[in-house]
Amino acid sequence: MELKEQIDKEKIPVHVAVIMDGNGRWARRQGKPRVEGHRHGVRAVREVTEAAAELGVRYLTLFAFSTENWQRPREEVNALMGLLVNTLNSEVETLMKNGIALHAIGDLESLPPEVHANLMKTVRETASNQRMTLILALSYSARCEITRAARLLAQDVKAGKIQPDEIDEKRFASYLQTRDIPDPDILIRTSGEYRISNFLLWQIAYTELYFTQKLWPDIRKEDLYEAILDYQHRERRFGRISEQVNPDNHR
Ligand code: FPP
Repeated sequence: MELKEQIDKEKIPVHVAVIMDGNGRWARRQGKPRVEGHRHGVRAVREVTEAAAELGVRYLTLFAFSTENWQRPREEVNALMGLLVNTLNSEVETLMKNGIALHAIGDLESLPPEVHANLMKTVRETASNQRMTLILALSYSARCEITRAARLLAQDVKAGKIQPDEIDEKRFASYLQTRDIPDPDILIRTSGEYRISNFLLWQIAYTELYFTQKLWPDIRKEDLYEAILDYQHRERRFGRISEQVNPDNHR
C-alpha cells in the first residue's frame, strides 16, 4: 500500500511545523554555491505545502529565516530575500487556487521594505482563504517573540488593563504572534540536526518531534507522509498515563 493510503484521515495533525535545514550542505555536495540549495529548497516548500493541504492539515508553519540568519554573508541574505519575493509573486495564484491563506510571524519590520510590502500584499490577498494557513516564520526567534509578549503584557499591567494575578498561560499566549493558531502537533526538522534552534519554544511544549536525515531540497510529499505516519503511531499523553488517554487499549 502506498504511504499516503496508510495515513489515518481521522488523525491528521492540525498543525505541522517544519525547520527546513540542509540547503547549504545539499549545494556543497553538488559542488554548487549555497544559494543553489535555497533555490532547490523552493521545490520542497511547494511539495510539502501541497501535500499538507491535500491531507487536510489546517496550519503549516515553515521556519524560513531566523533572526540569527541576518549574520550570514550579505550575498546569501540578499539571495534568500530575492527568492522569497519571487516565490511569493509566482505562487500567489497557486495559494488562491488551493484555498491557502498566507500568514507571517517574526520581526517583520526588519525585512527589506520590498520584501515586507510583497509579503503583506500576499497576506492581504489570501486572507479569506479557508482550507489551510501557511505561516512563514521570517526573521523569527522564539526568545524575541516571548520577550516581546512579556513587554506588551507589562505595558498592559502598567496601564491597569490587567492585574498581575490575572496572568496565566492562556493570557500570556494571547500576547504571542501565534495567538490565533493552535500549538503544533508535530515539528519536523530535516538534515539530521537534533536541535530546536530558537523556534516556537513556548508552543512546542507537548509537540511530537520528528527528525529526518534528508536535506531540505530533497524533501518530497512522501517525506511528509512518512512523518505523519510516524506521528500517528505515537501515543500523546500530555503528562497523563496511557490508561487515561487511551482507555480502549487497556480493556
Ligand atoms: C536552511 O538551510 C534553510 C534556510 C536558512 C532557508 C530556507 C529557505 C528556503 C527553503 C527557500 C525559500 C523559502 C520560501 C518559504 C519561499 P541552511 O542554509 O542552514 O543549510 P546548511 O545547514 O546545510 O548550511
